Amino acid sequence: MTVPASDALVLFGATGDLAYRKIFPALQAMVRRGSFEVPVIGVARSGWTLERLRERVRASLREHGDGGDDAAGERLVALLRYVDGDYREADTHKRLRAALGGARRPLHYLAVPPSLFPSVVDGLGESGSAEGARVVVEKPFGRDLASARALNRALHRTFAESAVFRIDHYLGKEAVQNLLYFRFANAFLEPVWNRNYVRSIQITMAEEIGVQGRGRFYEEVGAVRDVVQNHLLQVLAHLAMEPPVGDGSEALRDEKVKVFRGIRPLGAANLVRGQYDGYRAEDGVAPDSQVETYAALQLHLDSWRWAGVPILIRAGKRLGATATEVLVQLEHAPQQVFGEAAAAPSNYFRFRLGPDRVAIAIGASTKQAGAAMAGEPVELYVCNDRGPEMSAYERLIGDALRGDPTLFAREDGVEAAWGIVDPVLSLPLPVHPYRQGSWGPQEADALAAACGGWHRPDKGVSLAHRTVA
Ligand code: NDP
Ligand code: BG6
Repeated sequence: MTVPASDALVLFGATGDLAYRKIFPALQAMVRRGSFEVPVIGVARSGWTLERLRERVRASLREHGDGGDDAAGERLVALLRYVDGDYREADTHKRLRAALGGARRPLHYLAVPPSLFPSVVDGLGESGSAEGARVVVEKPFGRDLASARALNRALHRTFAESAVFRIDHYLGKEAVQNLLYFRFANAFLEPVWNRNYVRSIQITMAEEIGVQGRGRFYEEVGAVRDVVQNHLLQVLAHLAMEPPVGDGSEALRDEKVKVFRGIRPLGAANLVRGQYDGYRAEDGVAPDSQVETYAALQLHLDSWRWAGVPILIRAGKRLGATATEVLVQLEHAPQQVFGEAAAAPSNYFRFRLGPDRVAIAIGASTKQAGAAMAGEPVELYVCNDRGPEMSAYERLIGDALRGDPTLFAREDGVEAAWGIVDPVLSLPLPVHPYRQGSWGPQEADALAAACGGWHRPDKGVSLAHRTVA
């Protein structure tokens, strides 16, 4: 069923960091593509003028977009309007209603701290700006299961679930989309994509950067809330879900929710937390902070397909490389036919999700040239992307404007994902220090022992070289 497209974009948080780094450049790209031409009404409380917002947008495009003064950038600038005021005041919403003019189906983008969601949403409802409208909300969506439920209730006071678009930018990434496509567009995968052939699944999100001046924000979250509960569990859902039955956005989202519901809630033994040396000296960070900048988890998915398969996730800042990668390792060949001293390494699928060298590769063994029947590991590249055509934010904002919720987190999905991590969030688990540039605390090694150790995305095919006794 097609729904009417939005006829205005209201940007709460127009003066903020996210708008500057991601949203304006995405809008510029859409204008260039010819897919965006509605008014953009920025709302913030800094006492800015429209002219000041225009300058800010030009600076954003110079720094993060395709240039500040090109034709698409200026067309975007011409679409800007500005309303100054506090979101908690009725007068701000009254003036916003007036600025919307004849717009009947605005998209309200809440690029603001989550604590403000209820005030903004109530203000929209009371001023009449919610009628026919949709709302985009940024992550983090809550800080645990109870607060996520409370936020959902606050949103639903004004908006139906079908009008709520919860952003997780990983879902808009080309490489994450391709994961799903690769799984369900190829028949050869299905016979081996289960507990009978898959030995383990590992997802690594390693970042060389630290908290980049966002220490105050990070102190409220930590790695589990920042990237595991959302981005990495979404990636896991793409790997583990059953094929959606029927078309439409709900079929896909239904299957992902089933994965989350099948994952056992975490216990203390399944999580190792770490903190990089020097984190406590970052701006906005407490000198005795216990917040984790690294998390390693072992998950169990109780489903017919995956029961018993070890699933590992690790994410960390200030690690030895920047790379997000999935490794699905298969069981070994049952017999050493060629009498080699060491068994051939097991086959694997490697999905490089970013930031560069986006790839899907299959690890296999071939015979080395020469007299001996001796093998060597090779990678078969089934996809080696030159770079995304479209940023995640461009894709997701475009979808929200068109009213397509497929790539957005649904209420039940968000709550089920919180349900997995919720039990460990309040436990006083130790936070182990680790060296900047390392691969996290050694205490995490035990979690991966059954899978032959943690995969190092910077080492590419390293697993394939390992001799298996
Ligand atoms: P910032 O603190 O940079 O911006 C907050 C914005 O909200 C500013 O425009 C500020 O306006 C406005 N604001 C805050 N309080 C009020 C108020 N009472 N009335 C009116 N305006 C108000 O935050 P970010 O842009 O970094 O983040 C926004 C959201 O996006 C958050 O939920 C964050 O978690 C999420 N996010 C951010 C990412 C990032 O990289 N920055 C990445 C992923 C998600 P003013 O300047 O006028 O005070
Ligand atoms: C954000 C997190 O959601 O994702 C950041 O808040 C993290 O801490 C970022 O650095 C990583 O995104 P990407 O697209 O660079 O992998």
